[in-house]
Amino acid sequence: MDVDDIRAEALSAVSASDSPERLDEVRVEYLGKKGKLTLLARSLRFLDPSERPAAGARNNAAKDAVVQAIEARRAALTAEQLARTLSEDVVDVTLPGRRQNPGSLHPITQTMRRIEDIFLGAGYGVVTGPEIEDDYHNFEALNLPPHHPARTMWDTFYLEGGHVLRTHTSPVQVRVMEKTRPPIRIICPGRVFRRESDLTHTPMFHQVEGLVVDEGISFADLKGTVVGFVRRFYDKEVGVRFRPSYFPFTEPSAEVDAQCVHCEGSGCRVCSGTGWVEVMGCGMVHPNVLRMSGIDAERNTGFAFGFGADRLAAFYFGVDDLRLFFDNDVRFLSQFS
Ligand code: PHE
Repeated sequence: MDVDDIRAEALSAVSASDSPERLDEVRVEYLGKKGKLTLLARSLRFLDPSERPAAGARNNAAKDAVVQAIEARRAALTAEQLARTLSEDVVDVTLPGRRQNPGSLHPITQTMRRIEDIFLGAGYGVVTGPEIEDDYHNFEALNLPPHHPARTMWDTFYLEGGHVLRTHTSPVQVRVMEKTRPPIRIICPGRVFRRESDLTHTPMFHQVEGLVVDEGISFADLKGTVVGFVRRFYDKEVGVRFRPSYFPFTEPSAEVDAQCVHCEGSGCRVCSGTGWVEVMGCGMVHPNVLRMSGIDAERNTGFAFGFGADRLAAFYFGVDDLRLFFDNDVRFLSQFS
């Protein structure tokens, strides 16, 4: 075959190639080490010297033509491929994008932090303690000896070895009184546990209890503190009322109601139609409690209060089932972010 035949054959093979892979095969077939044009070039040395330059030139021209044809064909194939991809892979720009779902603080955490901020601003210290307590700190040191009937006020989870899951954070206050001398001004936030579960009770909930002990502390200080806190918390001049009550560790004791912030006292689902919600227990610290922790009860008096942060959060957010806070359903939780 002479060079023109090979050239013609190569060019038609190039234009018949329908993929980059096929083009590579064609290139090897004609221009590779054992390619047809390569072998032809090598055979030039058998020609008569006078014919060699002309034959060599024709050979080179054929090579160049094939190389160019291959490059042109490759470019055409690439363009074709691109056009095909563009027309086939249609992107629907009207589809909604993928959402980022950033997390947020749990509503109870938000509430606890707000409560802590209010008391920190009033000069209180924030103290925490163990969730597993001994009987002494959870009950006895709070004027609740072993057979005191008022122990039934707390549905207690008993553990082995005389320990309990603390039923309130009052034992933290005892621990502080054992170690510090007045003036004492603290709140004790934390998880507490009671054997109960319904719309308004969960077996684990969050309490914040407060304790102030100093010379000359009176019930008026307690009232001012509680009313001030409730109004700061709801950020509203809500009505607050004190009802006489009983706790073994305070005397006198009171229960505190706040006007329902949802209906402003006219009665609704959140306050079960009464216009008021019970928000906390409080009272003047019983002298026995001060004495048992080594505080001079002749010189000092004190007040204490305690409330469920989850209940306050429920009233604040208008949630009527406390259990929702602990089901961890993101549809619920994301409403508080
Ligand atoms: N410790 C009480 C409770 O858990 C609340 C309370 C605290 C009441 C301080 C009076 C004074 O029920």
